Amino acid sequence: MRIEPNPYNWRGISLELFYGRWDELRAILRGLDKGESFAIVGGRKIGKTTLLRKIEEELRNQFEVAKTQGFLLLPVYLDTLSFPFIFTPRYLYLQVIEKAQHELEQLQLLEKQGEPYADLFDRFLDEENIAFREAVLDLIAQIAPRCSVRIAVMIDEIEKILCTEWGQGFFDNWRSLLTDPDLFPRRSVVLLLSGAKEIKAITEDIGSPLSNVLSWKELKLFAEDESRKLIDEPTQNKLSADVVREILRQTDGHPFLIQYLMEYICDFDLDEGRRRLEEALAKFYEEQDSQFRSWWDEKLDENDRKVYSLLADRREQGLPKSDIVRLVGDTIANNSLAVLCHMGIVRKIDREETYRVAGEMFYTWFVENATPFPRLPNHVAYPREEKWYLPEHWFERIRQMTFVEFVGKFILYGFLVIIALFLIASLISQILSLLR
Ligand SMILES: Nc1ncnc2c1ncn2[C@@H]1O[C@H](COP(=O)(O)OP(=O)(O)O)[C@@H](O)[C@H]1O
Ligand SMILES: [Mg+2]
Repeated sequence: MRIEPNPYNWRGISLELFYGRWDELRAILRGLDKGESFAIVGGRKIGKTTLLRKIEEELRNQFEVAKTQGFLLLPVYLDTLSFPFIFTPRYLYLQVIEKAQHELEQLQLLEKQGEPYADLFDRFLDEENIAFREAVLDLIAQIAPRCSVRIAVMIDEIEKILCTEWGQGFFDNWRSLLTDPDLFPRRSVVLLLSGAKEIKAITEDIGSPLSNVLSWKELKLFAEDESRKLIDEPTQNKLSADVVREILRQTDGHPFLIQYLMEYICDFDLDEGRRRLEEALAKFYEEQDSQFRSWWDEKLDENDRKVYSLLADRREQGLPKSDIVRLVGDTIANNSLAVLCHMGIVRKIDREETYRVAGEMFYTWFVENATPFPRLPNHVAYPREEKWYLPEHWFERIRQMTFVEFVGKFILYGFLVIIALFLIASLISQILSLLR
């Protein structure tokens, strides 16, 4: 049996096939309603754009009801990847204004009025955020008699802004736009950003506390039941169980990889699933190998690669976080594990502080292509030389204990010490009595 038309689409965004991000979607919609702003963090192809587009769709679906209730959440989606090579804050802000204006006109909340705001930006040269504020307040004032509005500015892939010389300043300005109630009363503008690891730059920059204003959502691999749904529902459960299992093993819940394999398989009769899956994998390595190469070379730094290599060495059982901390230190372990998880190539094993490499596809690529990769001199799990007589060793051991373990050991060793002291004291008193 063949499914027509092919429901999968790994190149584009298909909102009909939306899986695995319902919790994030609901939390963000609830937050936007309250005037919260968000940063969505995720590696390449993990589903940032799909999530933003879904949020936009959900908000649009509410337009008619919102209009009658008198409060409209208006999404304005900007894809920086479609911007010109060189662009200015003026260009960006004007895009927001013009899109919002156009949408409000379509909703018949605003009279058609041409492009009156470009002049405003000419008046506030180098102070585009002020021009932006004036323009938004003007729009809001015009529709106020009919409806109050909150504009959700969605900027997809902020990397392209961050690497401009004005990028950091741009996000600094957003902090005051979002937090100062005098600038935008009743949170009439909120912000949704998406980006990969670079988005953390707005956390690290001391001058930019914008990160405190945003709620952070890190996208990771799908849970197994959601991956299964993405495979089974569009194919009406017609793909054999062993093929489904193999797709899960190969992708480990990476939405892009699932869609890639499924799009290929669904071009043929589903009864040929096993053979088509093998072809799809071969085709991926042949044609899309550069995707993995760019994840490895561009999206990971030396430390991330080190940590991945360590985990790859203990592929089956994974590594407890404490071991990774011991090998690379606290900061690197935390940062790199977060990056590897939102890239979708490492997974935290549920509820345990243990991590393992995720998915056969990336791991296979890694084994074949990423060597020689930077390994630690001792990349086995317990490489330390045990210097038990040093105080650091004991402090370290104590630090790693849980509270119960600590209390148990304290009582046990305390008891042993008391017995030892008692024996020594009675021995001494015996010796003394013999001497007397
Ligand atoms: N929630 C989802 N449900 C199903 N497929 C998804 C989902 N998110 C992403 N995908 C698939 O992964 C591909 C990459 O997603 P995309 O949103 O473009 O990622 P990003 O913006 O993070 O690079 C999409 O083309 C789609 O095939
Ligand atoms: Mg995207």
